[in-house]
Amino acid sequence: MRNVLDNELILLGGKGGVGKTTCAAATAIALLPKKTLLVSTDPAHSIGDCLGQEIGDEITRVEQGENLYALEISADKTLQEFKQKYSSEMRRLLETSAGIEHLTRGEREKLLSLPVPGADEVMGLRRLLDLMEEGNFEKYVLDTAPTGHTLRLLSMPDVFDEWNNVLYKLRDKHRFHERAFTKPDRADQFLASLKTSTTELRKLLRSQKTEFVVVTAAERLVIEETKDLVNQLRSFGICVRHLVINKLFPDLNTDFSRIRRDQEQKLVEEIRTSFYELQIMEVYLQPSEPRGTDNLRQFASLLYS
Ligand SMILES: Nc1ncnc2c1ncn2[C@@H]1O[C@H](COP(=O)(O)OP(=O)(O)O)[C@@H](O)[C@H]1O
Ligand SMILES: [Mg+2]
Repeated sequence: MRNVLDNELILLGGKGGVGKTTCAAATAIALLPKKTLLVSTDPAHSIGDCLGQEIGDEITRVEQGENLYALEISADKTLQEFKQKYSSEMRRLLETSAGIEHLTRGEREKLLSLPVPGADEVMGLRRLLDLMEEGNFEKYVLDTAPTGHTLRLLSMPDVFDEWNNVLYKLRDKHRFHERAFTKPDRADQFLASLKTSTTELRKLLRSQKTEFVVVTAAERLVIEETKDLVNQLRSFGICVRHLVINKLFPDLNTDFSRIRRDQEQKLVEEIRTSFYELQIMEVYLQPSEPRGTDNLRQFASLLYS
């Protein structure tokens, strides 16, 4: 079985609170000294908190981790920059699409400022893709938002594509009615580049060098959500080979811990049966929160032992 750390892009995801960020940061540390970028697209960023250093929307070198860099992508900010950069193309698009070409200037402005479903998420992923194309790092680790949000994010290239197809059709219709221009213009180029973007995103997520590591806990509700997540990831064609069961109760030689562990063991068995084809990685609940590079290094050795 291919090792998690052999991948170029490793995504970590799961239910809120299971330990996605901790596992992502520990994975990034396990990849050192390879030059690694740890990225978060969770709007509730917590990489900085986990590493014990402020990280923001700019690539920041992690002080205690040689060759480790981190970035908390603000999808919203990325989208605003995109809109600014392509505002003239977007206007042109509105002026030359059937049904909306006769809108007044004010109406057009209003339309442009409406949120396009999923656009901010696509932009966040797009930014990661751009960074990977620039190729300044050898490895990329992505700390994702909780399950629902992540699934939405991963389905966004498809939703975005449909939106794109509708615009293409409206333009064709306009052309037909106006018996107008036949040569592609900059609005066409703009649409084509969006299309390429979503195609590339899909390719990246389905690549052989990409793997989604699912983080879970031995709790009933978490398991149900994990099943959904794994199935959906597979339906998107994303590779899932490893499952982390985090925060398992340690053996403390007390009745309390015996009872907890017995209950957990049943759930762990269920997980192993449900996901028989996955490699399971188990991590015990630690006496303190694994924060800061030293603790994370230790956590990484438990995770990848
Ligand atoms: N194995 C563990 N032992 C002890 N605390 C843990 C463990 N894994 C994660 N934590 C703690 O649990 C909390 C949630 O973890 P986090 O990685 O932020 O989860 P998520 O990103 O999935 O919301 C954090 O306070 C983290 O330090
Ligand atoms: Mg998190």
